[in-house]
Amino acid sequence: MKDPHTGLHGEQGALPGEHPGRAASPVVKVHDLAWLEFEKPDLERAEMFARAFGFDVALRTPAELHLRGADPGAPCVLIRRAGGSRFLGPAFRAADRTDLTRLADATGTTVTALPDGLGGWSVDLIDPSGLRVRVVSDTHDLAASASPAPLVHNFGDAAPRINAAQRPPRVPATVRRLGHVVLQTTRFRRALDWYLEHLGLIVSDFLYYDGQRDRGPTMAFIRCDRGTTPTDHHTLAMTLGPSNRYVHSAYQVADLDVLAAGGEYLRDRGYHRSWGIGRHIQGSQIFDYWRDPDGFLVEHFTDGDLFDSTLEPGWAPMTASGLAQWGPPATKDFLGIEPGRRSLAELRAFTRALREDNEFDLHRLRGLLKVATS
Ligand SMILES: [Fe+2]
Repeated sequence: MKDPHTGLHGEQGALPGEHPGRAASPVVKVHDLAWLEFEKPDLERAEMFARAFGFDVALRTPAELHLRGADPGAPCVLIRRAGGSRFLGPAFRAADRTDLTRLADATGTTVTALPDGLGGWSVDLIDPSGLRVRVVSDTHDLAASASPAPLVHNFGDAAPRINAAQRPPRVPATVRRLGHVVLQTTRFRRALDWYLEHLGLIVSDFLYYDGQRDRGPTMAFIRCDRGTTPTDHHTLAMTLGPSNRYVHSAYQVADLDVLAAGGEYLRDRGYHRSWGIGRHIQGSQIFDYWRDPDGFLVEHFTDGDLFDSTLEPGWAPMTASGLAQWGPPATKDFLGIEPGRRSLAELRAFTRALREDNEFDLHRLRGLLKVATS
């Protein structure tokens, strides 16, 4: 008999009346994430880490640092020198300028020209968490840059590598492209609906707090709707939490050897591995998480799932053990519960979030506390 779960990417499907995971008629359908913008106090330090992580430098001035991957397109990360370090927001790539006009008309904003260095146009919006979200089009495309030839693998019965040793070099992992960004929000449901309705994103997987499924999901892995063109399982992931903040961003590399050797290179230089190497469940990526010198979490990934627009959302409980199929257990650093400055800030956020009017209440706090130990 055929296993009814064969072909299902999540543990379960939706129950009647649950969130459908897509908007009936979104304003536009964005094609991808274009870049992320940050402020950092020390561009030398940021550049040194970026090169060790496997970025190439597209632009460097005393005030700005643009990082690119080897794939053609816009730079993946824009960093501006400032007094402190801060995530400014994501930019999504629209199909064309007509979509920007449609988006501007629907939101009472305007289409503005981006700086000459980037080229193209932008509509700047504010999401329900207060984050600036840019939607851009017609930006300058950087040409593809050189990346190492793929390794020849002897796999199963196929052995194309004869009389040659396998020697992946211990060099920075060449970043190909920006894959996704993960955000935490105190207004999960409102923010989720905003992205689905305005940017046409669709949900690949929902997670809920164990025992609280009837209160709705608390995390969503969201992809672009490009019809029959397959896209990353998630371009944006959002999770309910006590504060509105950046969680991590992920950059695609060629394969496991590139990821692992690049990890050895980062470790040799004294950088801090947060969690890895493992293989995720939602999205299936092989992952490796690092802390940059400003404390931002960044991920190398490879071999992720690609879905077209036909797949419906999967549903599963949110647990720390459910974050990976294999690999070391999720670390306290990755889960944000390592004693220190960051967890203290999060602790203060708990008290604030419980007082304010948002979706994070005592019931949700109890659900979240169970995640780390389950
Ligand atoms: Fe990720």
